[in-house]
Amino acid sequence: MAEIRKIGILTSGGDCSGLNTAVYAVTFAAIRRGWEVYGIENATDGLIGRPMAYRRLRMPTFNFPFAKLGGTMLGTNSSGNPNEQISPDGTMEYLTDRQVVNRFKEGIKELGLDALVVVGGDGSMAMISQLCKKAKIKMVGIPKTIDKDAPGTDSSIGFATARTVVMNALDNLDTTASSHHRVMILEVMGRNAGHLALEGAVAGLADICLIPEIPYSYFNIVNHLRKLRAYGRQHALMVVAEGVKTPEGKQVFESVGNKKSLTGIGDYFAQRLLQEPDNFSVRSTRLGHIQRGGSPVAGDRVLATSFGVRAVELLAANQTDKVVGYREGKILDMDLKDVLKIANTPVRPDSGIVRTARGLGMYIGE
Ligand code: F6P
Repeated sequence: MAEIRKIGILTSGGDCSGLNTAVYAVTFAAIRRGWEVYGIENATDGLIGRPMAYRRLRMPTFNFPFAKLGGTMLGTNSSGNPNEQISPDGTMEYLTDRQVVNRFKEGIKELGLDALVVVGGDGSMAMISQLCKKAKIKMVGIPKTIDKDAPGTDSSIGFATARTVVMNALDNLDTTASSHHRVMILEVMGRNAGHLALEGAVAGLADICLIPEIPYSYFNIVNHLRKLRAYGRQHALMVVAEGVKTPEGKQVFESVGNKKSLTGIGDYFAQRLLQEPDNFSVRSTRLGHIQRGGSPVAGDRVLATSFGVRAVELLAANQTDKVVGYREGKILDMDLKDVLKIANTPVRPDSGIVRTARGLGMYIGE
């Protein structure tokens, strides 16, 4: 097997905090081995779009501490569709699948890359692994998502920081909730997974938390608020994951351009609770993309650096088509083809965090 001399790294899918730390870790671990590193811009668009977009990453690239900032210094492409290339002047170029593959191959060849490190979610891994196979280039994946539901790993880059953002939001809402004796609803991201909502709710000491994985009864939410009052607590913090369904069994979406965004369930509950005869004062906040920003907390930096170093070790050992992960306190690696077969990881109703929440007396459903 040919020795590695040049690698590329890209970040793909929705951004989150800790991506730059992973880029730093891969760059430094690779330079230590004498390899050249290229940062591919805007996910695969940097290889498929014309002109190509990339930059050499060297140690001085990080003289300014990008690695400690949120977002991604390489840019990303959240549409995840390599067939649609938007040029800098805003015009859209539609490529056939064959053109996508050919351009990807040309890009890899032009840069002379021996391997590609992909920091992304499961969708990006699946799509990019196909391109890498066709271009006959080694690939190692690093999982990232604030949703913490990436298959085969107990955590992913971005989750720890987003959880802190949720906790801080609850802390801010708590003072105004207690001053006004209000029910404050906080809608949290996560798509169909409730990890971010539930762990954020426990950290922020919420009174109610609804997640997609656990059914609830609207009647019992109202009852819980009445009980809190009876105990002498005049305000309440209620966290709702964006993927939670209404009591009628429907997820709530809002149109964003020609796309539908999973959001609005928090406002739905606010409207319902305001109609109760209890004179609850209710306000609802959507935390939105604030959850994707901020400097990575220590947990995300340790995870991102560990993942980055492991990814480079794998390539150095000629291991390819792997995804790094974290399970039971250990950094490990898995075969990409196995990971792609596993479903996303939901909150298990028998997990420790669910027991903790229930033990606190938090209403989290039935
Ligand atoms: O998967 C990450 C995530 O932040 C979800 O929690 C959220 O539903 C979604 O991305 C938002 O996507 P977009 O940035 O496209 O609005």
